[in-house]
Amino acid sequence: MPKVPARIRKAVFPVAGLGTRFLPATKAMPKEMLTVVDRPVIQHVVDEARAAGIEHFVFVTGRNKGVIEDHFDRQFELERTLAERGKSKELASLQQDLPSAGQTSFTRQQSAQGLGHAVWCARDIVGNEPFALLLPDMLHFSSQPCLSKMMKAYEEVGGNLIAVSPVPEDQTQNYGIVGVDDLEKDVSEITTMVEKPKPADAPSNLHITGRYILQPEIFELLEKQKPGAGNEIQLTDAMLGLLERRDQKFHAVRFEGELYDCGSKLGFLMANVAYGLTRDDLGEPFRAELGRMLSRGA
Ligand code: G1P
Repeated sequence: MPKVPARIRKAVFPVAGLGTRFLPATKAMPKEMLTVVDRPVIQHVVDEARAAGIEHFVFVTGRNKGVIEDHFDRQFELERTLAERGKSKELASLQQDLPSAGQTSFTRQQSAQGLGHAVWCARDIVGNEPFALLLPDMLHFSSQPCLSKMMKAYEEVGGNLIAVSPVPEDQTQNYGIVGVDDLEKDVSEITTMVEKPKPADAPSNLHITGRYILQPEIFELLEKQKPGAGNEIQLTDAMLGLLERRDQKFHAVRFEGELYDCGSKLGFLMANVAYGLTRDDLGEPFRAELGRMLSRGA
């Protein structure tokens, strides 16, 4: 009988980034709190993790990010006011979104040394168990949430998993790129990976979309990882180190859906349109207004 892989209970959210691509909106407000329709970007990503069965949410924050912690706490005055005004739907929805007491942890990255360093900062809270990692900038929009699909694959293959999706050849230098044993498969074994390669050096056109399931041994490699692309400690470099030790497998799981990079202005606007159009309470009038706006040319 194959060994049943250890359950994934915790998810890490690196939220320390400065959001310079989104100034001036992010001068005093964390980029993760920008709203896509009426939910902060980080809430959408936490929703994805909860839908996949995650029970503990680990946020790696930085200076000026305190409002994220407040967002995932109760707000007694607000709750009382909603209750007094009979706004039971709003109250129920606030309570439903909230992780239970003790289900969140916050730690600080202290200095901006890259994604690998941010993940390493979560090592004590994660401990010696596999965990999910979700990069909040990237909204994964699909009927089956990306992490749920990865959890299913994890039950089959165990080890480490990375969500991937094809990118145009001239964009490989913006992402981590993986090489796989079979480009046709939905879940394929990863043979190599490289962070932000030039098109000529890319092992395929499959880019890392920002959802991972990782074994705790990654922390040992991150501890010793030297800076790589952009002079930052890169998670991809540490994952390659773990892959090359050959005692653990990495699988690529194809993400089937639309990706919206909410760290970029265009991605953020597109996310608002996509999420707005599928809302039960807004979709129809929003579509009609958009149609009118486009037909008159603005
Ligand atoms: C990070 C990862 C990269 C991944 C990307 C997805 O890069 O290092 O491998 O493809 O996120 O958005 P960053 O966007 O932080 O430069």
